[in-house]
Amino acid sequence: MSETIHIGPSILSADFTRLGQQLSDAEAGGADYIHIDVMDGRFVPNISMGPLVVEAARRATTLPLDVHLMMVEPENMLSAFAKAGAATIHIHWETGFHIHRTLTQIKALGCRAGIAINPHTPVGVLTEILSLVDVILIMTVNPGFGGQSLIPQTLDKIRQTRALLRRMQLPTDLMVDGGINESTAAAAVEAGANMLVGGSAVYNSQYSVQEGIARLRNAALGK
Ligand code: DX5
Ligand code: ZN
Repeated sequence: MSETIHIGPSILSADFTRLGQQLSDAEAGGADYIHIDVMDGRFVPNISMGPLVVEAARRATTLPLDVHLMMVEPENMLSAFAKAGAATIHIHWETGFHIHRTLTQIKALGCRAGIAINPHTPVGVLTEILSLVDVILIMTVNPGFGGQSLIPQTLDKIRQTRALLRRMQLPTDLMVDGGINESTAAAAVEAGANMLVGGSAVYNSQYSVQEGIARLRNAALGK
């Protein structure tokens, strides 16, 4: 497991009336990347943002933009998100008949390729495509909303995924998304995650963004 833990605030929980400031705060707080949740109202029961917001975020921060596509037919939108400034594009395994082709397209656009799996999807379905994948994104909640609780069974899947990557001797990153907070971060890292997404743990009314990131990082490191 990589010793470095990367923390990516999810702007789904940010205050959109002042998104630029919320991004600068994340950068000042030591965020490693910015996670942007794209929801289409079909794959998930919510609608959020599109390339326009990615493009605006691109102008407001120098951090890598990690774009999580929770949408059907993501292949139609890849070049729009790449042009808007995505560093990584995650597609959901559950949305594709031709995942190999779609991952190849993401790489051809010059982006890192991420494959996301829902809580019900076993990690074993990924073995044939892992050579194309830079990041596995394990959903630790059912996607669609911020502020949900981590589903405890997903911790075992993180463990299985880390074991699989070790067995296959792959340097693939292992990201977790959903319900990652001060109470769950250490368990996710212990199970093998090296990239954490934090939505409501970073953007909330209790702490500043900087403090939210610091608390999450400390918890992840077991401090
Ligand atoms: C959920 C999104 C997450 C969300 C996480 O569908 O994919 O990225 O922003 O929010 P928290 O960290 O509050 O669970
Ligand atoms: Zn997400």
